Amino acid sequence: MLVDPRISIIDERLKGIGKIIAVSSGKGGVGKSVIASTLALTLARKGFKVGLFDLDFTSPSTHIILGIEGLQPKEEKGIVPPKAHGLHYMSIIYYSGDYATPLRGADVSNALIELLAITKWEKLDYLILDMPPGIGDATLDLIRLIKNIEFIIVTTPSKLAFETVKKLSSLLKSLRIPMLGVVENMKMNNAQLVRQQAKKIGITMLTEIPYDPKVEEAIGNTNKLLNTTLAKKAEEIASRI
Ligand SMILES: Nc1ncnc2c1ncn2[C@@H]1O[C@H](COP(=O)(O)OP(=O)(O)OP(=O)(O)O)[C@@H](O)[C@H]1O
Ligand SMILES: [Mg+2]
Repeated sequence: MLVDPRISIIDERLKGIGKIIAVSSGKGGVGKSVIASTLALTLARKGFKVGLFDLDFTSPSTHIILGIEGLQPKEEKGIVPPKAHGLHYMSIIYYSGDYATPLRGADVSNALIELLAITKWEKLDYLILDMPPGIGDATLDLIRLIKNIEFIIVTTPSKLAFETVKKLSSLLKSLRIPMLGVVENMKMNNAQLVRQQAKKIGITMLTEIPYDPKVEEAIGNTNKLLNTTLAKKAEEIASRI
């Protein structure tokens, strides 16, 4: 069998990183990208060296959340992620701009392997991964490609969203991938369903984030973002990971 040399390069590229944390979910639109971006900013503000890697090739959005424009990486025997708002920042948008990247099946895997293999991270305390939604090809590939990956699972208070958390967490358990815990986002009341269910299946509840209308107004402005309730809750996550 032919071995893809890029796969061993990926290990080499990631070896100087303390903790690699995937912000993931079973369902789309639950707040992964906002939470991944705010968590990365929060950790950087605490003095850690932090990278943020947008791995949602279909709809990258962390650059919009952080208000990043006109940034380009440097090439030095690999691609060096430029710094933005104190974060080492990597995204497919450097190459795709705001155009769609309609990749399918093997092409998604190939693009992921390529980007992981060419990206040259400095020594980092944390690398936060903004993951694509659900348990699709890209998520399965990333589990396979990144050795020390650990997961945070984001959900909304909905029973439907939690059903997908159960699926993702049982997949991770079966593959022996560490789970740091679950974040319940966009809470509108004091419903206990997620907390109770998480306890039942033995997952740590990292925090509960209320629905906060300030979040939408803060998109594109990191100072405003760090003043939201969501950012306060990101501090709680940061202190527990
Ligand atoms: N706690 C919150 N309060 C209010 N709005 C929120 C909150 N969390 C996220 N949002 C909003 O919800 C929307 C979806 O958030 P986001 O894009 O981060 O979700 P996602 O899980 O990354 O979506 P996708 O699956 O498409 O990648 C955004 O408009 C965001 O501003
Ligand atoms: Mg997203």
